[in-house]
Amino acid sequence: MNVPVYVALLHHPIQNRKGLRVTTAVTNMDIHDIARSTRTFGVTKYFLVTPIEVQHELVGRILGHWRTEKSRQYHPDRFEALERVALVHTFEEVKTSIQRDSGEMPEVVLTDARALPKALSYEEYRRELGDPKRTRPVVLVFGTGWGISDVFYPEVHRILAPVYGPEGAQGYNHLSVRSAVAIILDRLFGQ
Ligand SMILES: C[S@@+](CC[C@H](N)C(=O)[O-])C[C@H]1O[C@@H](n2cnc3c(N)ncnc32)[C@H](O)[C@@H]1O
Repeated sequence: MNVPVYVALLHHPIQNRKGLRVTTAVTNMDIHDIARSTRTFGVTKYFLVTPIEVQHELVGRILGHWRTEKSRQYHPDRFEALERVALVHTFEEVKTSIQRDSGEMPEVVLTDARALPKALSYEEYRRELGDPKRTRPVVLVFGTGWGISDVFYPEVHRILAPVYGPEGAQGYNHLSVRSAVAIILDRLFGQ
């Protein structure tokens, strides 16, 4: 791929089932499965974003376990995937880290199961990212809980269209975030 691509999984600010703003817990499945998808599709770094200190201790311990020399030898594929996970407190840290790595602030791209105004098709965005003149890095942002709270929207530059199944916009499309990441990366970067 032409431009550096990043994935961020937000645990705050998130909506709960009642539409209230909450912070969700990091799940082990999201750490491992999304790390593998990001490695497969050439994503530079996968940011896990949570402001909660005890979650940093817990996730830090899990990541530490998979980053030992023993893990590198016994589970090289998992080691290679988890190597690219970065645990941060805020989305501000995501942007600063990307700017430090790549020299430019990223384009922030929201994903959502709901149809939001001015959403881009995958075909269109794939074409844009393939333009050899393009240099600006991209961060694809995914939610947890009942999705990303609208207080995050001022950060967003572009919105990707929802993924739909054969029933289309009227049908069921509430994917796990792990499936959504894999499908969206495949649509944008898969062969
Ligand atoms: C709302 S969370 C659901 C988290 C859930 N607790 C789980 O099991 O993964 C799912 C996130 O995946 C993405 N997502 C889910 N379904 C999607 C769809 N149909 N189209 C685009 N993105 C989708 C969005 O980023 C959304 O915030």
